Amino acid sequence: MSDDWITVRIAARRRLAEDVVGLSLAPVDGAVLPPFTAGAHVDLELPGGVVRQYSLCNAPGAPDRYELGVLLDRQGRGGSRAVHEALAEGQAVRISAPRNLFALQQAEHIVLMAGGIGITPILAMAEQLSCEGASFELHYFVRSAERAAFVDRLGEARFAGRWQLHVGERIPPSFDAAPTLGTPQPGHRLYICGPNGFMDFVLDRARAGGWAEDRLHSERFAAPPPSAEGDRPFELEIEGRGLIVPVAAGQSAAAALAAAGISIPLSCEQGICGTCLTTVAAGIPDHRDAYLSDQEKAANDCFTPCCSRAATPRLVIQL
Ligand code: FES
Repeated sequence: MSDDWITVRIAARRRLAEDVVGLSLAPVDGAVLPPFTAGAHVDLELPGGVVRQYSLCNAPGAPDRYELGVLLDRQGRGGSRAVHEALAEGQAVRISAPRNLFALQQAEHIVLMAGGIGITPILAMAEQLSCEGASFELHYFVRSAERAAFVDRLGEARFAGRWQLHVGERIPPSFDAAPTLGTPQPGHRLYICGPNGFMDFVLDRARAGGWAEDRLHSERFAAPPPSAEGDRPFELEIEGRGLIVPVAAGQSAAAALAAAGISIPLSCEQGICGTCLTTVAAGIPDHRDAYLSDQEKAANDCFTPCCSRAATPRLVIQL
């Protein structure tokens, strides 16, 4: 969660598609919004102190507004519902400065794939790549035309000839991702964002088709549902404090720390944002997040207490 909140005003709010609302956030009191790069997101503070992350979807650079697109998730934890039901035009809200965990890297050609509301960071990427004169193509998958946000903007974009809308194409099991993924080339990269099922399917197909792991880039909006199966209790030792905190099966490490009076920064609470990342001095974590790379997980020198556990009876952590 951000320590340095920025107060902005909801300058415009409009319906972008079925269940998708767009917010345009403007600075107040002559402030200047920090610049950002494609793939960045901000934390948005919602009524009740709930904080959620939303990608910035406008053209990157030094903007006078931040544009967000938010899908109503009726089965979600309530963040998108609060955006849809409690935020109004003219209202002041607090956001963090942009952070980018999904930045574009140099490539000879980039394939952008978006599923549903996953279009938000992908749209900013298309804007940035177009501005840089880079080679790219964008594929946007939606269940129905009514659910396709930003189509007007895409139609008017300077990259109008480089994107394709795929309406109603079933994802797994009948969707054939191969023509969209093409034949992997050493200089190509794939960036994908969307629902977990869509991303897992496409990434599996990409790997099977020969795409190298370091050429695949993805960002998830929600972690796969956690499985508590096989969860065991473990201990957290706080290095230098002589304090040992027991973590029960079915209790998160973050919750156990909070129960012991130790609060750590939290935001997504599902292993996506990295806000709670904590240094591990000894012991082996049982990583369950979608934030750390496989390489970072293998190093076992940090973990995300909001969702990850321990593979050893005790973890020694630094706070
Ligand atoms: Fe987001 Fe832990 S709070 S990864």
